[in-house]
Amino acid sequence: MRLSLVCCALLGVFLSNFSFAVVFKFSNVVCESYNKSWFQFHECRLKAVSREKVIFNLNGTVLHPTNNVFAHGNLYKRESGYKPWLVREVVDWCRFMRKNYNPAAKIFFSLFKEFTNINHTCPFVGPQIVRGFYLRPELLLLPFPTGEYMLSLRWFFDQKLQFDTNVSFVFVEDIMKA
Ligand SMILES: *[C@@H]1O[C@H](CO)[C@@H](O)[C@H](O)[C@H]1NC(C)=O
Ligand SMILES: *[C@@H]1O[C@H](CO)[C@@H](O)[C@H](O)[C@H]1NC(C)=O
Ligand SMILES: *[C@@H]1O[C@H](CO)[C@@H](O)[C@H](O)[C@H]1NC(C)=O
Ligand SMILES: *[C@@H]1O[C@H](CO)[C@@H](O)[C@H](O)[C@H]1NC(C)=O
Repeated sequence: MRLSLVCCALLGVFLSNFSFAVVFKFSNVVCESYNKSWFQFHECRLKAVSREKVIFNLNGTVLHPTNNVFAHGNLYKRESGYKPWLVREVVDWCRFMRKNYNPAAKIFFSLFKEFTNINHTCPFVGPQIVRGFYLRPELLLLPFPTGEYMLSLRWFFDQKLQFDTNVSFVFVEDIMKA
């Protein structure tokens, strides 16, 4: 009993130091609308607030209501150019907002749902805001291998590509620092 408590305590200290030592932050964002009569970007920007914390602000407008939104997500890892890495998903966003049916999208969404107003069911119309979004390693279920990654999200309305939000980030595992 006692021993397992000590073990748990030690493990807890180890894990908290571990996640403390991880660097998980944005390194770049690229947004582009392919149909400005349906989706417009006003802002899509990173801001470094400290060495290890970079926030992402996005402000866009959906000009006509949409009930048919698909996100094509691809994760790439940078290794002399970006190589496809592990995750490749097409998510029916209206269905996902009703019922978090997709595990990968669920992790992704858990990272930013408190920083955005897109946390609701379809239709989507009007201002689409992400404010002060920063990455927290403790919300990832597994650590990534150290490296730079890009998550490309291409957003389709009525099966037609409307805009991209491509976000790059670094993940550095640095247990020695703990
Ligand atoms: C986003 O990433 C995808 C996949 O690499 C690429 O095809 C697309 O052109 C990128 N979009 C922008 C706006 O750079
Ligand atoms: C562009 O947006 C308009 C709505 O403003 C829509 O009717 C049209 O189908 C869209 N075109 C493409 C190629 O997505
Ligand atoms: C988003 O951009 C629009 C148009 O520039 C602006 O009117 C609005 O205040 C902005 N919203 C936020 C939250 O920055
Ligand atoms: C929206 O956010 C609230 C609070 O974080 C959460 O309880 C709810 O499940 C979220 N809704 C969706 C559709 O994810």
